[in-house]
Amino acid sequence: MTRSILNDTLFNAMDLSALSVDEAVTLAPECYTDAEFYEFEKEAVFNHEWLCVGRESWVQQPGDYFTTHIVDEPIVIARGLDGVLRAMSSVCQHRAMLVAEGAGNARAFVCPYHHWTYGLDGALVNAPAMGKTCNFDRKNIALPTFQVEIWHGFIFINFDPEAAPLAPRLSSLSSLIANYDLANAEGPRPEPGERHPWNWKVMLENNNDGYHASRLHQGPLHDFVPSEQAVFPELPADTAGYYRTNGTLHKDASFNATQRALLPVFPDLSEEERNRMTFVNIPPTLSLVMMSDMVIYLIIRAEGPEHHTMDTGLLVAPDATKDPSYEHKLQMNWAASEEIISQDFHVDELVQVGLRSRHAIRGRYSWQEGAQQAFNGWLVPRYQKAWQQWRARK
Ligand code: FES
Repeated sequence: MTRSILNDTLFNAMDLSALSVDEAVTLAPECYTDAEFYEFEKEAVFNHEWLCVGRESWVQQPGDYFTTHIVDEPIVIARGLDGVLRAMSSVCQHRAMLVAEGAGNARAFVCPYHHWTYGLDGALVNAPAMGKTCNFDRKNIALPTFQVEIWHGFIFINFDPEAAPLAPRLSSLSSLIANYDLANAEGPRPEPGERHPWNWKVMLENNNDGYHASRLHQGPLHDFVPSEQAVFPELPADTAGYYRTNGTLHKDASFNATQRALLPVFPDLSEEERNRMTFVNIPPTLSLVMMSDMVIYLIIRAEGPEHHTMDTGLLVAPDATKDPSYEHKLQMNWAASEEIISQDFHVDELVQVGLRSRHAIRGRYSWQEGAQQAFNGWLVPRYQKAWQQWRARK
């Protein structure tokens, strides 16, 4: 019989990961591989934290909707005919068929299986041939709804109806990114991303990592963002995210073969902002890579202890799309970004293989991994608090 890894020893030892970066060690490898830990993590993190699911611009008109899923929960985001944006479970309250797939515009969701029909607010408005069913009142049935909040154009949901609002805990990050005006930035809805065989934290850590930039990505597509110019500012303790800035060797650096911005620069950026890149993380789902002419956003959707799906989108300054060469320039940016991302994916997949090994250990950090320590500082208190509650229930 396999012994549970969930015990006081594991959670007490997590203190070592939340120390300063020069003292800290990584989380235990099992936190990235173990199925029971993932079930614990769903309660510790995903059931109570704000989860990014997409952009408000994807659902601008009444009736617009899109679907997604995270931690095995199918979700539909819809703008009602009353103009209100709502997030709901897409699980039919009859026999669990999903009432919506993909994206589109609708006046209601008709479950394909037996045609129960739900309004865009989730209320069950029709259930055919249920008149002989005892004690059945469709007015008592609805798709479960979730909290919704918009932050800089990103839609966040929360499964916990009691969760405190997100924005007040992101005020430091809101100031940091204000000049990008992301609420008004433009970009298409990305195709749903690929499923990747590595833990969601491996992905988030990779995007945070200033250390690998000058090593893994060494070459003309990345050398202008050197690791030694990484900075990891301290934020107020209750901040629900963290960031690093990374100075660049020239102004308006961007990921393409010219190493310079091709698209219009976000018009309100300061000189300082135009001479660096900024990497913002709102765990457990959103990661931003911000440069002068483009913001890459990653929506990381956990799907098990060793899998996640990631949606990758781009945002550009308003009206950038009016440039006749917009598509060509975007393709140049995207080609370079894809090459860099493929280098990351290769490493991420093999890190997951390594984490499964009996020889995986709790490693040490370079100062250039300050964001990993910030992530640990976000995770460890949540894990330890949830463990106390989890243990009390056992
Ligand atoms: Fe949806 Fe039956 S499962 S109507």
